[in-house]
This record gives sequence, structure tokens and C-alpha cells, in this order.
Amino acid sequence: MVRGKFITFEGGEGAGKSTQARLLAERLISRGHKVERTREPGGTSGAEALRAMLVQGGTDRWSPMSEALLMYAARRDHIERVIAPSLAGGQWVVCDRFADSTRAYQGAGGGVDPAFIDALEQGVLGETVPDLTLIFDLPVEIGLERASVRDGEAQGRFEAKGLEFHQALRAEFLAIAKAHPERCVVIDAAQDIDAVHAKVWATVAERLVP
Ligand code: TMP
Repeated sequence: MVRGKFITFEGGEGAGKSTQARLLAERLISRGHKVERTREPGGTSGAEALRAMLVQGGTDRWSPMSEALLMYAARRDHIERVIAPSLAGGQWVVCDRFADSTRAYQGAGGGVDPAFIDALEQGVLGETVPDLTLIFDLPVEIGLERASVRDGEAQGRFEAKGLEFHQALRAEFLAIAKAHPERCVVIDAAQDIDAVHAKVWATVAERLVP
């Protein structure tokens, strides 16, 4: 069995990742691929329960270190039960956020030591590293505005963290892309949905479709 491909979508708030992950999954399916579309934190019943605890409540409900540990507990369950078996069974996995989000949100945004995040990555991910990571980039003010129109009163803990936090995330995602050009491609998420999808598809086709 040929292993499936693992594609992750990363970036700040309101970048349109979820819509684009769905459009990519639909296009891959129409090309005859088997696709598991999933998200983090989440993707299993245990990880979705952790997600509810992580995204709801006051901004100081958890310290950034506690968040990193909970994110990694959720991630391990997701890898064991969904991502690794799907890839081994030949399915493509399209995942809305993954390990780079912990590096950006808890590391650059929250101040958790990058060496500690390295250790979590090495100990928890194993071979489950994305084949391709699409980093959705757009000005922070535009992303937060889009997210607030989308979520209204239901704004999450991370959206509420303030402009400086979100600017640190944006810079970190761009730094990750620069450090890992073999895996990461930056997508200009300020364009309209069709233009972004065209860029996503062109990137996937160029990098992953034989
Ligand atoms: P979403 O809004 O993109 O679905 O993601 C849920 C929130 O969780 C989002 O505000 C980013 C945050 N998050 C982290 O802080 N660290 C992580 O490792 C992940 C996967 C998400």
C-alpha cells in the first residue's frame, strides 16, 4: 500500500483555512483520491473534548505551557487514531492546523521555550510530519475582522488575545516557512476564495501529484 500524503493548513485567525481545506479535499476526491479531512485541536472524540476546554473560556484559563501540553495530548490521540492509520491505509490527510500552530501560538505568542516545543515535536510526532504545509498569510487586522464577523459573540480564547499576540504569530508562521522551504509554501490569503484555491491546487499539484 502506498502511503497517503499529509497536508496541513496553518496561519492566523480568519485566514480562510477551513474553507480552503474543504475545497482542496473535494478536488482531491474528484481526482479519485481517498481523503480524510480533519482539524486540530480535534479530530477524535477525546481531542474534540480537549478542544472545547482549550478554545472556550477566559484568555487566562490556561497558561501557554498548559496549553502546549493539552494541544500535544490532543495531537497524540489524533495521530494514533486517525492520521497515522489513514496515511498507512493510502488515504490523503488534509488537516486544518497541526504542530506549527503550537510553535506559533504557544511558543511565539505565549512565550513557551522553543526547545521545549522541539522536544514535544520530537517525542510525540514520530514519523507523522506533513509532506506539505500551506501557510495562509494576511494582515492581522483583516484576519481578526473576518474572524469576528464569522464568530460574533462566540469569539474564542485565542482570538481575544490582542493585536501584539497575533502579530507575533504572523511573524512566526513566516519564519517557519523560511526555515522549512522543503515542506512549507506561503499562500497570500488576502485574495478572493477562487484565487486562493487556484494557488492551493497549483501548489499541491506541483509538489505532490505525480
Ligand atoms: P481554529 O480556530 O483554527 O479552528 O483553531 C482553534 C484555535 O486553537 C485557534 O485559535 C488556534 C488555536 N491553536 C493553538 O493555540 N495551538 C495549536 O497547537 C492549535 C492546533 C490551535
